[in-house]
Amino acid sequence: MDAQTTPLTQRPQWQSLLRHRDAIKTTQLRDLFAADPQRGERLTAEAAGLYLDYSKQRVNDDTLRLLRELADACGLRARIDAMFRGDRINTTENRAVLHVALRAPAGEKILLDGHDVVADVQAVLDRMASFSERVRSGNWKGHTGKPIRNIVNIGIGGSDLGPVMAFEALRHYSRRDMNFRFVSNVDATDFVEATHDLDAAETLFVICSKTFTTLETLTNAHAARSWCLKVLGEDETDANGAIAKHFVAVSTNADGVKKFGIDTANMFEFWDWVGGRYSMDSAIGLSTMLAIGAQNFRAMLAGFRAMDEHFRSEPLERNLPALMGLLAVWNNNFLGAEAVAVLPYAQYLKRFPAYLQQLTMESNGKHVMLNGTHVDYSTCPIFWGEPGTNGQHSFYQLIHQGTRLIPCDFIGFCQGLNPLGNQHDLLMANVFAQSEALAFGKTPDQVRAEGTPPALVPHRVCEGNRPSNTILAERLDPQTLGALVALYEHAVFVQGVVWNIDSFDQWGVELGKQLAKTTAAEIASKDEPKLAHDSSTNALIRRYRQLRDDATSGKA
Ligand code: F6P
Repeated sequence: MDAQTTPLTQRPQWQSLLRHRDAIKTTQLRDLFAADPQRGERLTAEAAGLYLDYSKQRVNDDTLRLLRELADACGLRARIDAMFRGDRINTTENRAVLHVALRAPAGEKILLDGHDVVADVQAVLDRMASFSERVRSGNWKGHTGKPIRNIVNIGIGGSDLGPVMAFEALRHYSRRDMNFRFVSNVDATDFVEATHDLDAAETLFVICSKTFTTLETLTNAHAARSWCLKVLGEDETDANGAIAKHFVAVSTNADGVKKFGIDTANMFEFWDWVGGRYSMDSAIGLSTMLAIGAQNFRAMLAGFRAMDEHFRSEPLERNLPALMGLLAVWNNNFLGAEAVAVLPYAQYLKRFPAYLQQLTMESNGKHVMLNGTHVDYSTCPIFWGEPGTNGQHSFYQLIHQGTRLIPCDFIGFCQGLNPLGNQHDLLMANVFAQSEALAFGKTPDQVRAEGTPPALVPHRVCEGNRPSNTILAERLDPQTLGALVALYEHAVFVQGVVWNIDSFDQWGVELGKQLAKTTAAEIASKDEPKLAHDSSTNALIRRYRQLRDDATSGKA
């Protein structure tokens, strides 16, 4: 077996890491810091406006070297080059993975089957910019001649999480005289609540769906169509005019868009080489551009690009995504951490953990390797989080004193965007206090020295040695957001390369979608359906139909 075909866990580099882990098992972060007074400055790296402090990870220089050797053995460099070159690295869908082309500058060429995709990207960006300008300036008029004041993005997964996260993150830069709403759930409440106070004559729906076949999105788009036409005209001439003025689509599926009734002149295109969860900087970001304007959107792309360039060219020692990806592998596969907490200390990043959940877990939540054989190591950990300081008063207890190891990513900014007294200093004091408390804890001696009654000492001890990254940036602006998202995109890629999985497919979500179609037909059936599920599912469907029908017939 050569280096490439040797199973991951039998590779000498993996084995060395296991031995190394055992050797440093008892070493505490306290010891590591005591042994190296410069550690807090040394184990840091900086790029694209982001400063990463990984000194509070449970690693020493040997760990980092061994992790880099593992990355080399897994062919990380070659895989990075393959992605940037447009090779079909999404092998199960036979697709290139070229989200990096979305932020390549005009004039650069990336050829896919001999065709320059950067020129296509730039053409769509220009169309988005002129459309956004027409809407933002009031020159794009609704069916009754009123300017657009409300934008409703309808999409789900990557067609929602990226847009809503980016809107919230960059709300400070957004048009305050316009409303931006996001509808994703097939639960009608989502649509009804998002539109209940809007005037259809001033509302533009942006229907985002890569495939334009997604049940939730098409259902909500049809609901939007009816809602709109109820106010703006039911007859066909009116309907056509109203749809043209109040609906635009973002998709790779022109036929699907046409079939829905949106003129492809009002469609913004993207391509199958952009994964849904990697699409917020494609035309899927139209609502973001409508909110913050084309110039700010371009600044965001520049941030993505700066991180792309760094990832592509910087040696692994100083490469932020490589470091974060390899440290995640270390925590997951060698220290046994099953979850990661993402803790942005910025209210504007309140949707960032939700966005990252799809990026990380839909990408790397895989149980087989590229060749289809089962992995014998764990892959993606569970990601979750909340903006600080809210999480501190909720689940941080478990992170500080629970029985599980939860590595944390703290994200903070040196300038607040809404200066109010000393609140930003207080916010940041909490970032530093939390990572310090996690790393160094409080020993029994320290607890006793505070005069704690002996019986309470064990309860008050914080063992420490709990790892974290801290990511610091100057301020949350479009450029920084782009760099931050690209950092995580590439860190996810690095982990996928080590685990030898396809980080760009998502077959696991298909089964549920298929079953839902059958079940929806059974639930809708006028006659008692013949159910052929397991006894639990059959009974649940029957009970649901019964109680629903009783309620509608007034029996309940
Ligand atoms: O359900 C998974 C998924 O396919 C995601 O990968 C994707 O982001 C989402 O559905 C929405 O898909 P679409 O943009 O095609 O509507």
